[in-house]
Amino acid sequence: MTFSVWLLVCFCGLTLGQNVLPQTEVATEIGSCFPDMCKFLKEFGAMKAKLETVETNLKEKSEALETKLKEKQEVMETSAAIGGSGSNGHIGPFNTDTTIIYRKLIINVGNAYNQHTGIFAAPVPGIYYFTFFYHAVGTQVVNLSLMKNNEEVVTTYDHKTSHDVADNGGNAALLQLQQGDQVYVRMHANSHVWQNEQITTFSGVLLRQL
Ligand SMILES: *[C@@H]1O[C@H](CO)[C@@H](O)[C@H](O)[C@H]1NC(C)=O
Repeated sequence: MTFSVWLLVCFCGLTLGQNVLPQTEVATEIGSCFPDMCKFLKEFGAMKAKLETVETNLKEKSEALETKLKEKQEVMETSAAIGGSGSNGHIGPFNTDTTIIYRKLIINVGNAYNQHTGIFAAPVPGIYYFTFFYHAVGTQVVNLSLMKNNEEVVTTYDHKTSHDVADNGGNAALLQLQQGDQVYVRMHANSHVWQNEQITTFSGVLLRQL
């Protein structure tokens, strides 16, 4: 780049040197075009260099953005069911509240969900969507809440009855989370759910980072 600018400047200098035409002729035939041309060419060279810098910067920025976007999309999607290794049966009722641990991972992109604790920890601030579904024995109470830290956000409940054999239910919520907020399903005291590898599930997805 520097080299070509110098070439242009030298060429202009030569042209000026050879310009021996009388003042009047210069004015009428070619006017003050040559000095302007030199200025123009110099400015053009500088502009070209500037453009190249801008272009490089833009390319770097868009590449960085693309990487960031990709990371964001890969940050987190979780789907898990309670059961693991062919286990089948009811969990609960217990006489205290417990966190349901969904051990069988369907997907866990970004590893925001911990299959040993049952807790989903938000990796980035944003809007998330969670669902939880259960299957249960009809003769027992079901009482589950989707928790955001220590707050019950939404609940699903089923009464004890003697005339239905099985129950299915669930709930869902959009949550705005800060980084590190914990989301999990709490099974309240004296309630139960049925576990196998497909039937009682918990899922979460990042919809939009804020
Ligand atoms: C579910 O459990 C919570 C917490 O123990 C309790 O406050 C609530 O009354 C229960 N829901 C129903 C419908 O009994």
